[in-house]
Amino acid sequence: MTAQTFELNHCYNMDCMEAMAAFPNDYFDLAVVDPPYFSGPERRGFYGSKVSRIGVHRDYPVSPAWEVPGKEYFDELTRVSRHYIIWGCNYFSYGFAPGRIVWDKCNQATSFSDCEIAATDLLKTIRLFRYMWSGMMQGKSISEGHIMQGNKSLNEVRVHPTQKPVVLYDWIFQNFAKPGQKVLDTHLGSGSSRIAAYEAGVDFIGFEIDPFYFKTQEERFANYTNQTSLFHMR
Ligand SMILES: C[S@@+](CC[C@H](N)C(=O)[O-])C[C@H]1O[C@@H](n2cnc3c(N)ncnc32)[C@H](O)[C@@H]1O
Repeated sequence: MTAQTFELNHCYNMDCMEAMAAFPNDYFDLAVVDPPYFSGPERRGFYGSKVSRIGVHRDYPVSPAWEVPGKEYFDELTRVSRHYIIWGCNYFSYGFAPGRIVWDKCNQATSFSDCEIAATDLLKTIRLFRYMWSGMMQGKSISEGHIMQGNKSLNEVRVHPTQKPVVLYDWIFQNFAKPGQKVLDTHLGSGSSRIAAYEAGVDFIGFEIDPFYFKTQEERFANYTNQTSLFHMR
């Protein structure tokens, strides 16, 4: 495999380590990644009942175990991409650059983490993004993320146990990427990053190892692009 094996603006059902080996140094302008920091969410019934109270189906076929990445993964990621945004950096022991992005999920009343943290070499400071993401409670927009979306029918549908909102990636690409740049997501999950990349006009490649989630995000992306081409709106 070489970089030419992979088409821009396509996603692939494969192990990201195998895929990254095909790319030369600094091929991507930016990697925006969200690797698993513990194994468990992929297991059937990990979160309890078959359908969560927010509607995520858990009666999936049993998935391959999520492997928590080590130094080899981060070395490879920083080899193939000039810059990075790595979610969950607080769970990994690696010499990340000092920049941090903090996503405040505005969910203080729950037992879940209040925030998620990403390491980035694009900043020397810490930037805060506020967007409500707690069960059925979702934010209104990038600028009014701390205010709950009143109309639940407009909520983003959850298709993956650790899905991040598309709006978070919209904000990332608006602030840290330019149209036409090459962007990599090694751990695609629900494909939220892919949808935001499409809107931002960046050239995107994503990898997802799990066949079920891969198919789910393919369908989600196809539905999204069909709808936007019909209505020209999200
Ligand atoms: C934390 S989730 C990503 C969630 C994603 N950011 C979203 O918004 O939906 C991690 C994903 O990485 C996938 N995965 C785990 N190991 C992988 C590997 N070696 N290569 C590619 N994907 C992998 C898992 O199946 C899971 O869907």
